[in-house]
Amino acid sequence: MPMRADSRLHTVSFGQVLSGLRAGGPLGLMERTGQQAQGAPARLDLGAFRPLLVTHPDHVRHVLRDRGENYRRGAMMWKPLGRLTGLGIAGEGPRWQASRGLWCKGLSGRSAHAAVEATAPSIAGAVTDLEQRVAAGATVDAVAEMTRIVLRIVNPVFFGSRIPQSQCDRLAAAVTVAFGSLLWRMALPFVPLAVPMPGDRAFGRATRTVNEILLPLIRRARRTPRSGTDLMSLLLGGRDAEGRPLSDEHIAQDVVALFVAGSESSALTLTWLWVALQEHPGVVAELRREADDVLAGGPPRREHVRELVLTRRVLAEVCRLYTVAWAVPRTAAAEDVIGGVRVPAGTTLVLSPYLTHRLPEFWEHPLRFDPDRFTEERVRNRHPLAYLPFGDGPHQCVGQSFFLQEAALVVATMLTRFHIAVAGRVVPRASVALRPRDRVGLVLTPRR
Ligand code: HEM
Repeated sequence: MPMRADSRLHTVSFGQVLSGLRAGGPLGLMERTGQQAQGAPARLDLGAFRPLLVTHPDHVRHVLRDRGENYRRGAMMWKPLGRLTGLGIAGEGPRWQASRGLWCKGLSGRSAHAAVEATAPSIAGAVTDLEQRVAAGATVDAVAEMTRIVLRIVNPVFFGSRIPQSQCDRLAAAVTVAFGSLLWRMALPFVPLAVPMPGDRAFGRATRTVNEILLPLIRRARRTPRSGTDLMSLLLGGRDAEGRPLSDEHIAQDVVALFVAGSESSALTLTWLWVALQEHPGVVAELRREADDVLAGGPPRREHVRELVLTRRVLAEVCRLYTVAWAVPRTAAAEDVIGGVRVPAGTTLVLSPYLTHRLPEFWEHPLRFDPDRFTEERVRNRHPLAYLPFGDGPHQCVGQSFFLQEAALVVATMLTRFHIAVAGRVVPRASVALRPRDRVGLVLTPRR
């Protein structure tokens, strides 16, 4: 029987949390809670912290769209991220609004097309490099290689290729270290900065590297302005809420924010795609046929994206089953009611697209990998909030269209050049993003 949106609260006691964590770690606990709650809001008792898990599409719509102004991104755990990104990305208000307008200008609609056009040669170049580097049948680290490809792609889009690829890679590595070293502070956000914590020194070193690369680059770019639709050009020409040009620090923080939001999620989703395909040789054969037909022996071009119909459906299904942004936190500013459940002001909500994507009421056989779920007709007939790998509402991902287009070209190009297999079994782990627990080996055999 379909579940009603006004269902009652499902509670998970402290003891159940502990046994769930012991049995399957944070992801296992979430999956078990999702199965038991079946879309009802669920309160997780973690001692002093009692977040409300929200998964039903009606409730998701309430939080992200209908009452979006009441549910802020400023959840306490995101505060430490502000030291890295100036709260442009994890924040709200005029600072975020000024940045978001510019990000959208550079990445959505026709700009996304221009960005994909600018990156198509980088995709071809990155895959050719990989072909030349690996011996036939070599096993490579999937996340590292997908990251390498993604960074080649973002360089023209973020910087208008103002920096050499080696600098872009160094910058991305420093951002990854800085972000990773914030995990303790994100887990224990109430500990004052004066109290040293693991990761602090690595954070200091990594942010120094970031500033050493970015600030001179921004100053140089200011001295030699040029018109362009790359994000650096847009930020240099941008204005804050008071109409003043953005400061060098603001621009540097936004670039870091874009790296944090865009590069790891893209590389992980591409990695999960190869993992998902491993058990579906029939789909791989069809995908390869499509790639060979559409690319016809040439390099990838933006116009190919439209024709890569199955590739785009496969990507959509990978985003459903391997939802990299598995949890999206919010804080209730004022008291509210969600699905008949009272939500006091200050409550932390955790929306979980990962669990929404597994609700049997909206997804038949939810654990089955089935790209045909994304035919136009089936998408039209589905609850619009049953699928949200890129979030929804005012903070919806600005890189969604760009990612889906570039990823389709990456996948098609890879398939025209390699036979690809994944070595061993891959287990997901819920960190800030949904990552593979261990290194994923990708066995690449060039087709020629
Ligand atoms: C598979 C790839 C990606 C996934 C799964 C993803 C997912 C998401 C999600 C779920 C959000 C919303 C977070 C929230 O509501 O709190 C978001 C926001 C954002 N994403 Fe993405 N993203 C991806 C790729 C990208 C790329 C390629 C870029 C940039 C080039 C990007 C830039 C951003 C930015 C700037 C925001 C913040 C928007 C705001 O707060 O207004 N993302 N992303």
